[in-house]
Amino acid sequence: MKIAVIGTGYVGLVTGTCLAETGNDVICVDINIQKIEKMQQGELPIYEPGLELLFHRNILQKRIQFTTDLSAAVHHAEIIFMALPTPPGADGAADLSYILGAAKDIALLITGYKVIVNKSTVPVGTADKVKAVFESITTVDVDVISNPEFLREGVAVEDFMKPDRVVIGTTSERAKKIMSALYAPYVRQGNPVIFMDERSAELTKYAANSFLATKITFMNEIANLCELVGADVDAIRRGIGTDERIGKRFLFPGIGYGGSCFPKDVQALVKSADEHAYNFEILKSVITINEKQKVILADKLLNFYKNDISGKHFALWGLSFKPETDDIREAPALYLIETLLKKGASISVFDPEGQENVRAIFNDRISYAENQYAVLEGADALLIATEWSLFRNPDFEKMEDLLKEKVIFDGRNLFELEKMAELGYYYNSIGRKL
Ligand code: UGA
Repeated sequence: MKIAVIGTGYVGLVTGTCLAETGNDVICVDINIQKIEKMQQGELPIYEPGLELLFHRNILQKRIQFTTDLSAAVHHAEIIFMALPTPPGADGAADLSYILGAAKDIALLITGYKVIVNKSTVPVGTADKVKAVFESITTVDVDVISNPEFLREGVAVEDFMKPDRVVIGTTSERAKKIMSALYAPYVRQGNPVIFMDERSAELTKYAANSFLATKITFMNEIANLCELVGADVDAIRRGIGTDERIGKRFLFPGIGYGGSCFPKDVQALVKSADEHAYNFEILKSVITINEKQKVILADKLLNFYKNDISGKHFALWGLSFKPETDDIREAPALYLIETLLKKGASISVFDPEGQENVRAIFNDRISYAENQYAVLEGADALLIATEWSLFRNPDFEKMEDLLKEKVIFDGRNLFELEKMAELGYYYNSIGRKL
């Protein structure tokens, strides 16, 4: 099929590349000329495991092209995906100006039927607003549909190629037929393509992310309670996760959820509920609890050092909001660093991918190490904020020589309690015994 993808950010590029992979003829459009030129030269502007291979293969086989020429892309395509940013505006609601602007540009160009697919996470009612833009400009028949993405950073290619489900919001039989054919290669194992109306599809995306954020937050609260009553959250996680109604995934407690999606989407859903005079209390609590959880390691440290950490030096492993990404947006590590600096401590950090992004924020207020061992030199304690694989099985003897004290505060529960006790470490993790 002939496809245009407007917007070559994270979602647009993964979508465009994965659609090309099954034989579609894809043109990706962006207003950023430098970015387009780089991609034309085969340079992938984002880091995402597995994407590079597909990107190069499809460029080579001429199934994907990059351009700033919206008109060429619109005339080429029967399906036009919009994968545009929806940043939170000053009032917390999603800013739709990019989407509505693109809709206007497309409306001015089209001469025949198209399916206009919105991939961005947008408030309920956006498809109707986009439709209204088309109706105000052209009489050409279009179907404006909602097709939210459920891609996780780090495994986005796998999530696109083998989705748990595809959600499509449209009541148009013509659009349903086209989208079923487009997604058929991705759901061959029997996973469903779920059709619904546009508004329900838009809300499904917020409901999914908010539910997952709530699930994590619930486990964080259970973990906090475990510490007070002397129970072990790992045991409880296994004990409840084996109940199929609860499920094993997304039950890992930690130092709060971060990233570019959960915090933004939970906020937006609360805001949208407020606008309809509905008080979404559970999500308001989720936001408050997560704010506290992001600095829980700092609280633990302050407790350990009797509220005085000035002059102490800490090593921090992990900066990105989760492993396998350099993304530090809303990363708990940032809040932790800020809190410790305010209390007069000094910090050295190490992260395999996120370090340069953090340098742009903290500059020389903290120091940056070359590897996970160098960062430990002279530190009073090690703090762990992200569960990168290379932190899971470290050389504890080497660590002992570098650290001033054998003290670890682990926000991701990387090590076995028995092992740490054997090695003689003071090991404080989340929801487990000391
Ligand atoms: C999330 C969703 O999982 C995707 O389905 C969705 O498409 C995406 O947002 C989006 O809206 O674009 P992502 O933000 O990449 O994906 O990251 P996740 O893997 O979901 O992790 C989110 C946060 O939850 C991380 O900070 C992670 O550390 C935390 N988390 C996750 C936990 O604390 N415990 C868990 O058990 C799982």
